[in-house]
Amino acid sequence: MELPPAQDVMRLLGGYMVTQALGVVVDSGLADRVGDEPVPLEVLAGHTGIPAPQLARLLRALRTVGVFDTGPDGVVHTDTSRLLCRDARASVAPFVDIHTDRGYAAWADLLVALREGGSAFERQRGMPMFEWLSSHPDEGARFNEAMAAGSRQRREVLLARDWSGSTSVVDIGGGTGTNLLAVLEAHPHLTGAVLDLPSVREQALALMATSPAGDRCGFVAGSFFDEVPVADTYVMAVVLHDWDDEQALRILRSCRRAAPDGARLLVVETVLADGEGWDWAPWMDLHMLVMLGGRERTEAEWRRLLQDGGWDVEAAGPRLLECRAQRETP
Ligand SMILES: C[S@@+](CC[C@H](N)C(=O)[O-])C[C@H]1O[C@@H](n2cnc3c(N)ncnc32)[C@H](O)[C@@H]1O
Repeated sequence: MELPPAQDVMRLLGGYMVTQALGVVVDSGLADRVGDEPVPLEVLAGHTGIPAPQLARLLRALRTVGVFDTGPDGVVHTDTSRLLCRDARASVAPFVDIHTDRGYAAWADLLVALREGGSAFERQRGMPMFEWLSSHPDEGARFNEAMAAGSRQRREVLLARDWSGSTSVVDIGGGTGTNLLAVLEAHPHLTGAVLDLPSVREQALALMATSPAGDRCGFVAGSFFDEVPVADTYVMAVVLHDWDDEQALRILRSCRRAAPDGARLLVVETVLADGEGWDWAPWMDLHMLVMLGGRERTEAEWRRLLQDGGWDVEAAGPRLLECRAQRETP
């Protein structure tokens, strides 16, 4: 239902209220306690520690945005609220964790980030986000969990590629290895390694130990600004959007230095397009600015960046750019 402009603007203004309410739904375990059968309010109050009259107020507000439904016998999930359960397929709970605290605080300085450029997070916390995550292990682990939880689409994009011409794969900034392990599990002729920061190593090794492809997957602790291992195929999934053009070029060139001629690079990123209606991508573009000083890019911007970084773009789609290492000039 289309709202009159005066109400629509209030709906938009209340975005921060919705964000915090979703945080409560996840943090208090409310989403995990609701099921497909109605659960009485008093039972939920007992589980969440929120007194029933207060919980009713929260649910009344959430209902207006399609989160939970309340009937005479109790509370049930909607398709939207179900995704807030920790164990739901495609759960967004780990994302709620990272958006409602660090993300929320950093966005308070959006205007400064827009005017002056660079990360609001870094200004607030005195160090770049990945350095901060490395020095706050619990927060780092939560971030890595959120990345793994949100990587289903990226895995699907990668699994849809033809891997018959590859033998070795390095996933640059590959996090805990969710993407690479999925590829290795589907293609037993491949071996691979994740390159990521030393702080991610323990979590990655734990995940690799649970995978049938774990014995074909290594972890290289280091920085992609310094050195990248040799492979015939590289993956960079939502890595370059964390960085401004100058830093992104350093990563691409560092990868090109390691790559044999003819090596392939699969860049899994959003390609910004002008469309009508609500779209998460332009908001993520601002989020990258606020958190990291990074950006999302249009196809033309991606092509220019990759070309300057030593990679020819052979194919570009809405979620993937396939590149080939440029021949070294003699
Ligand atoms: C947005 S996450 C993407 C993770 C993964 N590729 C995925 O698709 O979920 C960016 C990753 O880059 C890693 N990273 C950040 N700085 C790095 C550096 N200097 N060297 C290597 N990895 C780095 C982070 O630790 C994180 O795992």
